[in-house]
Amino acid sequence: MKLSCWIIYNGFLPGNKFRDYAEMIQEAAIAHGHEATLYTNSDIVSFLDQEINIISLKNDLLPDYIVYTDKDIYLAKQLELLHIPVFNCAKAIDISDDKIKTYQMLAAKQIPIPRTVFAPKTFGLHVHFDDLFFQSIIEQFGFPLIMKEAFGSFGEQVYFVSNVVELKEQVEKIADRPFMFQQFIETSYGVDLRLQVVGDEVITAMKRTSNTDFRANVTSGGKMETYIPNDAEKALAIRASKAIGADFAGVDLLFGENNERIVCEVNSNAHIRNLYDCTGVNVAPDIIQYIEKRLGEREQ
Ligand SMILES: Nc1ncnc2c1ncn2[C@@H]1O[C@H](COP(=O)(O)OP(=O)(O)O)[C@@H](O)[C@H]1O
Ligand SMILES: [Mg+2]
Repeated sequence: MKLSCWIIYNGFLPGNKFRDYAEMIQEAAIAHGHEATLYTNSDIVSFLDQEINIISLKNDLLPDYIVYTDKDIYLAKQLELLHIPVFNCAKAIDISDDKIKTYQMLAAKQIPIPRTVFAPKTFGLHVHFDDLFFQSIIEQFGFPLIMKEAFGSFGEQVYFVSNVVELKEQVEKIADRPFMFQQFIETSYGVDLRLQVVGDEVITAMKRTSNTDFRANVTSGGKMETYIPNDAEKALAIRASKAIGADFAGVDLLFGENNERIVCEVNSNAHIRNLYDCTGVNVAPDIIQYIEKRLGEREQ
């Protein structure tokens, strides 16, 4: 029997990136003999009442599985409540999207991460942290330190803080949203690794190096090169992906001071295009193959 899938992406974000990712998955699904349709998150209307339901504005039958490239967690959960297998699952996307939740899950599994202190919830009203609070942060981390918003991407919500004036200014700027303070991994200045995990395997990897910024993100000027990870790096990335409950993920590793690897981020919706351009390896077929295997296991 021919499997059918929906590939859901966000229709509100600017640029072609998100649709491109969905199309890469679609192409791989079709190549596997599946029927694959692209949906934006607004092509589906979710109803909550005595019953849970959805209406697809494309009028299709419910699919056998969904590849969820969006971060619209409510919709992902709605689809799961209708017993449709969703990859990655809503829970993993939720954890991945929130860096504080991610670090909690990683720390709970004793996976090395930069030492982190998350800020208390403020509700954004008349936010004032007293000097004792700042003092404890400075004692914990010294300068420079990293501040990071729980929600962010492309390195845009990650801040380098050099002194107490910058610390107070930055806190004031973002205190209405969840954020954290973090140990600066100096030995990883402008460089990190991206390993792409699918299930129990690392499919491909790249090293990103920026000469102009402490952040290695490609958007921050990071240059990509193919990287051959060693067994320890692979094992760490797979553990990190599993720690957040992801089926597949782009895991970012930093270089610690004793050349050990430290997990920086676990991305459930990692863009696979950059990786493809850099390494020549398209991860999409691996993702589809993995899903097929998982669906087979479910049936048994
Ligand atoms: N604690 C840290 N120490 C050193 N560099 C860091 C640290 N945290 C992040 N970086 C750098 O900043 C980049 C972006 O941080 P990351 O947490 O991955 O956020 P984003 O989701 O925006 O990519 C990383 O790829 C890394 O190069
Ligand atoms: Mg990152």
